Amino acid sequence: MEQADREDIEIELLLDAMEHTHGYDFRHYSRTSLKRRLIHRMKMSKLNRLSEMIPLVLYDEAFFELILGDLSISVTAMFRDKSVFNVIRDKIATTLQTYARVNVWHVGCSTGEEVYSLAILLQEEGLLDKTRLYATDFNKRSIAIAEKGIYSADKIDAYSKAYLDSGGNDSLSNYYREAYDSIKINDSLRKNITFAHHNLVKDGQFAEMHLILCRNVLIYFDAQLQNQVLTLLHDSLIHRGFLVLGNKESLSFTAVQDGFEEFDRTNRVYRKLDITGS
Ligand SMILES: C[S@@+](CC[C@H](N)C(=O)[O-])C[C@H]1O[C@@H](n2cnc3c(N)ncnc32)[C@H](O)[C@@H]1O
Repeated sequence: MEQADREDIEIELLLDAMEHTHGYDFRHYSRTSLKRRLIHRMKMSKLNRLSEMIPLVLYDEAFFELILGDLSISVTAMFRDKSVFNVIRDKIATTLQTYARVNVWHVGCSTGEEVYSLAILLQEEGLLDKTRLYATDFNKRSIAIAEKGIYSADKIDAYSKAYLDSGGNDSLSNYYREAYDSIKINDSLRKNITFAHHNLVKDGQFAEMHLILCRNVLIYFDAQLQNQVLTLLHDSLIHRGFLVLGNKESLSFTAVQDGFEEFDRTNRVYRKLDITGS
């Protein structure tokens, strides 16, 4: 048996251990990047074999948290992919304004920068007061950071530029307070946001959403898990609700592609079709 085949068996056993002990199921994450990250963790922990991580996952809570951090990939930013925010501002906000109340689900929100970006946009479009934003992630550490809304000040120049490029019509500095090396997002933006733990692999739907952002999350899943999660997102949307994916993600060849129409191809924005197909 080849070394690579043995490693694949070790990974299966390790992922089983993670699922059985902590309820986090990575068995349908894209295998290549998962393997790369696990090998990196093995080397960082000065271990010789992937399977040496199994007892650590079983008995060492701190080690499990490390692996969870490695596998969650929490990279995010404010107004990441400016043109997506342009589309939401210019093409989606007008539709949202026709509803009495608006529900938004921010799936895989990581440390919250993207949620606050959307809250700023909604505020500027006169929508924030009637909107409830649900922001979820399966990484509890990320959610805790998101809830606090405190970020390092060294990225703020880049964020201010991205805000203006994305159609912002004020100054980003109106939305946070500076303290030492940090910025704290204003409470007025945070008051309509509910942050919650939610695992896309096993938790249920959020009902009656008008807009769902699930950006740069599906990319880590295999085709089976992508289909499962996309079905969950489809079921969570109202008819004619909007789904926004990351710029490397699409609905092509997925189980739900006939349940949506393309709204903005470049920015991966989709709109749920009516049951009648219109
Ligand atoms: C690369 S970040 C994307 C953050 C943000 N949406 C963006 O595009 O800037 C991916 C996020 O997906 C989350 N994630 C991965 N698997 C998940 C799952 N099964 N359930 C919920 N969140 C998950 C990770 O914890 C991480 O915060």
